[in-house]
Amino acid sequence: MDEGALPWWQNAVFYQIYVRSFADSDGDGVGDLEGIRSRLGYLELLGVDALWLTPFFRSPMADHGYDVADPRDVDPLFGDLAAFDALVADAHGHGLKVTIDLVPNHTSDQHVWFQQALRSAPGSRERGRYLFRDGQGHGGSLPPNNWTSVFGGPAWTRVPDGQWYLHLFAPQQPDLNWDDSEVRADLVQTLRFWLDRGVDGFRIDVAHGMAKPAGLPDMDPNAVAIMAGTQSHDVVDPRFDNDGVHDIHRLIRKVLDGYPGTMAVGEIWVERDDRFAFYVRPDELHLGFNFKLVEADFDADSVRRAIDRSLTAVQATGAAPTWTLSNHDVVRHVTRYGGGDLGTRRARAMALVELALPGVTFIYNGEELGLPNVDLPDWALQDPVWERSGHTERGRDGCRVPLPWEGEIPSFGFSRAGAAWLPMPTHWAGLTVEAQLEDPESMLSLYRHALEIRKTSGAFGGEELEWYGAPPGCFAFRRKGGGLICALNTSAAPVPLPPGEILLASGPMEGNQLPPETSVWLV
Ligand code: GLC
Repeated sequence: MDEGALPWWQNAVFYQIYVRSFADSDGDGVGDLEGIRSRLGYLELLGVDALWLTPFFRSPMADHGYDVADPRDVDPLFGDLAAFDALVADAHGHGLKVTIDLVPNHTSDQHVWFQQALRSAPGSRERGRYLFRDGQGHGGSLPPNNWTSVFGGPAWTRVPDGQWYLHLFAPQQPDLNWDDSEVRADLVQTLRFWLDRGVDGFRIDVAHGMAKPAGLPDMDPNAVAIMAGTQSHDVVDPRFDNDGVHDIHRLIRKVLDGYPGTMAVGEIWVERDDRFAFYVRPDELHLGFNFKLVEADFDADSVRRAIDRSLTAVQATGAAPTWTLSNHDVVRHVTRYGGGDLGTRRARAMALVELALPGVTFIYNGEELGLPNVDLPDWALQDPVWERSGHTERGRDGCRVPLPWEGEIPSFGFSRAGAAWLPMPTHWAGLTVEAQLEDPESMLSLYRHALEIRKTSGAFGGEELEWYGAPPGCFAFRRKGGGLICALNTSAAPVPLPPGEILLASGPMEGNQLPPETSVWLV
């Protein structure tokens, strides 16, 4: 890196690949590393800068790879280490950085450590790597505290000798004890293992987890699942965001500092902006995912608030803000915004808002095709949330349906054999990459065009925004450095455009009026 030059991620557009669902090379209906490698040309054409690959490590797949049995090997379902090395080399050849998931909060129950812990006595060294405790009540038959799992039900499971172990997610994902020096040393080894293979960075899963408070005090029963994103300020939730977590991030940072040009972005579901900022202090993570845009309605005031809060949260830290509309844990935004043509029009408008903002954007695979969430039949559901909630929450499978690439019938080129691990809607023929590539009106064309302008125009400079006065239900901001203006209309009527020359619009314009559900870039 040149002296004084910005790091590569400062304004980068990341593309999140949900590995199971991107492209399947071997015909088993599950996406894999070779599948990704075969589609790198597409990603280069799309114009993204970096990839984030969801977990592809050895795993029994109780949570589709977020239950890691060996963090330093590739699961045979996805390929092998040679396939990974080939993917990294080719991605770099296409000018794409490669970042991968790191899952430090928990392991799989099939991890050798947990298997040893189960075979060992209470109080043993082996149990000390996890959070085993005696229960409460007569004979210890009640869990050690009232914590609930993010996926539903109690966060504790009892083992045959009567002790209980903690799992903030599924029972197949026992939480590690981060006070244990071996647990810390192992993370360093894992980081180095992948850095030595050439990865450019990590996405840290549940980066606000890991550290647990002494004595494991009860939680406020009103605390809700982190991923619901509705945690209010006054709820006491000792499961997450404990101060001890920052030492772990400092440890990660120290390792990364030994590999110049590498970075880490944390998944941080923390409501308070001041607490969020702690995670991106200069000696901690380079970036933090915030989910303010995911939580905002399609409403100019609500989107503006999300933008302002995201910018303020990182202002004093020097870290770039980050923007996300969808990922593998939330309902896809076409559907959140109302679905159908309306949802699509709004998603187009929000894509331009997001890509106009200073900082780092994360695109979730398929959003560039305008994929909606899918209503899957009960029999198809695989997310542990479905079982754990007693079939009251359908879980996250609906946003994880494989990508349609080409052709008229499922699996639309996702898999050579026509197989797909989740059923793909037959009416997706119009949403395939093939169908959209040459259509100038398609969502894919909008993303390609927007990404190209973002990369080549000088208008995107500067970190600060200036807000213009705007009619109700609308906003307009200007990038102070470069001069780009972005206007959004979420009201029911057309409004006058701000002055300037149109660079790109999310939908058809009406003279010099900005129609409803539309956004525009001007200079
Ligand atoms: C994160 C992941 C989610 C996973 C959970 C447990 O929130 O994004 O998919 O289920 O962590 O690892």
